[in-house]
Amino acid sequence: MLHIRPTAPTEPTARTMIDCCIFDLDGVIVDTAKYHFLAWKRLAAELGINFTETDNERLKGVSRVESLKIVLSLGPITLSPADFDAALARKNGWYLDYINQIGPEEILPGVAVFLAAVRARGIKTALGSASKNARLILERIDLLDEFDAIIDGNAVSNAKPDPEVFLRAAQACGIVPARCVVFEDAAAGVEAALNARMKCVGVGSADVLGRAHTLIPGFAGLGLDALLARLA
Ligand code: BG6
Ligand code: MG
Repeated sequence: MLHIRPTAPTEPTARTMIDCCIFDLDGVIVDTAKYHFLAWKRLAAELGINFTETDNERLKGVSRVESLKIVLSLGPITLSPADFDAALARKNGWYLDYINQIGPEEILPGVAVFLAAVRARGIKTALGSASKNARLILERIDLLDEFDAIIDGNAVSNAKPDPEVFLRAAQACGIVPARCVVFEDAAAGVEAALNARMKCVGVGSADVLGRAHTLIPGFAGLGLDALLARLA
């Protein structure tokens, strides 16, 4: 007689309403804010402006051009268009000196494991960043191949909180916005995700990211099913 052992019930999994995870880069995948700070501080010092870490918070998620406008407003200082462009180039040169030294050890805790879990589940992954240096950074930290689409500061005309960067990421992955979740560490990025009609996970604290659908302190120990259940 054939005995068939009943199979153990499978673990209940959250009904996945998410087909694409879109990640901001700076402050979500890698902590580049410290290098932006050092480069902006050096530029500000050249211009006779005292630039603090508190000032640097205002630059998170903000494009390079808008960041320089904020730095100049601390003077306040006005630059000619040529000097403005030269200042942008100097700042980026110093920033790249730091970026060219980084490696995979700079990936924030838990990010690589979480990305792998997302991909293993067949969920698409995309990058949606304001940075024009995004590809270089992903190359340096060896994550370039972990994304189905990369939309960065070179590809968009409208900065966050405009939803363009995330809508283009979703489109590149072939997923409708309602089935996308954005991971963001900046208030402007959370607004961009909401403007795109996407779910948003804030990576950081409620005082800045309170409008996100849910918050995480970071990716270390983050379970994919538990997170999807929170978003369902
Ligand atoms: C964002 C950062 O991701 O990219 C900002 O949060 C930065 O601080 C912006 O200014 C632009 O970056 P980049 O690399 O093009 O100067
Ligand atoms: Mg960011």
